[in-house]
Amino acid sequence: MLISFEGIDGCGKSTQIDLLKKHFEQEGIEFSIFREPGGTELSEKVRNLLLHETTEMDPVTELLLFSAARSQLIAEEILPRLKKGEIVILDRFFDSTTAYQGYGRNSVSLEQIEILNKVATHNTVPDVTFYLKIDLETADHRTDGNDKDRMERAGSEFFHKVIRGYDELSKQVRFETIDGTLPPDEIHQLILQRIKREKL
Ligand code: TYD
Repeated sequence: MLISFEGIDGCGKSTQIDLLKKHFEQEGIEFSIFREPGGTELSEKVRNLLLHETTEMDPVTELLLFSAARSQLIAEEILPRLKKGEIVILDRFFDSTTAYQGYGRNSVSLEQIEILNKVATHNTVPDVTFYLKIDLETADHRTDGNDKDRMERAGSEFFHKVIRGYDELSKQVRFETIDGTLPPDEIHQLILQRIKREKL
């Protein structure tokens, strides 16, 4: 089973992934967690370029680097685990590319992004995607004072477009949209309910 978490920076993904990790550990359920971009030696090198490179990066180059990091993670770590029937939790997946590089950056058309996502994921789609939805003010408030990486330094106009992207994406049935301003434990319970519905 493949579970992904999505949302803008500061939405509370890390807290929820941590709570889910503890839940699976308590239940004695085997699982793995990977973050994107990253999760393999090569993908972490690409992550460094994407988040900490200071020279100008062309939007299409950015799109292809996120996709390259993803393909390596899929081939090296995710597909072998899914084939064995294991649970894999992903801190971001290709929906981030659609929201950030597609809606946010308008790097190429959404149709082209969709094709590229299929290539980069080797046609892998999550069983369920948790979208923790927060508005930009809440996000800004939560991330205020943090060191901002290259993506987080993009302006508020960019993040409004990213949110619009997630709102569009979340109309799909595999999405579970949760109000990210709810108390963490309430969000956790909603996540568990959906996972149980997916027959875990
Ligand atoms: P990260 O520090 O992991 O942020 P977060 O904790 O919010 O997930 O950095 C990942 C950044 O990269 C984040 O700003 C979102 C962005 N991103 C994209 O723009 N496209 C993508 O395909 C992915 C996976 C991430």
